[in-house]
Parts: sequence; C-alpha cells; structure tokens
Amino acid sequence: MNRTLSFTLNGKPAKISVDDERMLLWVLRYDLGLTGTKLGCGAGLCGACTVLVDGKAVRSCSAPVSSLAGKKVLTIEGLAPDGRLHAVQKAFLSAHAFQCGFCTPGMILAGCALLSTRPRPTRAEIVRAMDDNLCRCGSHKRILDAVEAAAAEIAGGAK
Ligand code: FES
Ligand code: FES
Repeated sequence: MNRTLSFTLNGKPAKISVDDERMLLWVLRYDLGLTGTKLGCGAGLCGACTVLVDGKAVRSCSAPVSSLAGKKVLTIEGLAPDGRLHAVQKAFLSAHAFQCGFCTPGMILAGCALLSTRPRPTRAEIVRAMDDNLCRCGSHKRILDAVEAAAAEIAGGAK
C-alpha cells in the first residue's frame, strides 16, 4: 500500500510516497539515486547494503521502508557532509582497505556503527562486529586494521 513517509536522510528532512513494503535499498538506489549503497546478495547476507538507521547498522535490502518513519538514515553519501572525511573513511584510505570498493560503503558504515557504541574496541570485538560484512577481494584484514586505526584516531592516540 502506498503511503507518505517522513524521515531524515543524511541530515535533511525527506518525504516520499512509496509502497510501504518496498525495501529501503530500492528506495535509496532507484528512487533517490543514492547509489553508494550497494546491492550484493539482496538477502541480508553480505552487508554491501549497510546503512545507519538511528546510528545502528541496518541491511537496507531487508528493511521495509515503512520501518523508517521518523528515523534518521545515514548513507555513505552523508558521512562527510562538509567535505571532511570521517575518521573511518580516512583510515580506509590510509590502510588501502579496499580493492574494487564494492563492499567499502557498507564496511565503513558498519565500522562507524561499532565505534559509536564501542569507541575503543578490542581486535576481537572488531573482528566480531565486521564478520558478517563480506569482501570478495580479500581486503578483510586491512579493513579490520582500518577500523582499529580509526578507533585510535578518534581516541586521540597515535597508531
Ligand atoms: S545486499 Fe543486503 S546484505 Fe547483501
Ligand atoms: S574491496 Fe572488493 S568487495 Fe571488498
């Protein structure tokens, strides 16, 4: 059933008229043109479509848009609104934590979600938090290194 939904998207108010069973990923990519959120498995298994909803990592391929009413959605396009990269983005660049880049938006947002609730995670906690986001290019170790470096950067420590 079509309904009008209001939510916050990348810091700005958004209002859309949409079938409330449509998944958030289709709305972001095909209705709103935010193609930084990737379609991988389409079944909640790979994490390529990860966005933040009220700060929590959510698989947008499996989240009906009706669940977003009144919430704050952040996609990779909204992570550096003033052009200054987030610490996790900077760390991914420094660590060369990608090859094709397909998994990268989801990985970065999953890392941000972890660090927002656990600013100084142990390596084991990082491994656990990132374990369900898959990288087909074999960059996973460098991704973990990047999240660890971002945590150190945010905490103000040298790494
Ligand atoms: S595309 Fe959503 S989890 Fe794979
Ligand atoms: S960098 Fe290619 S899928 Fe991760």
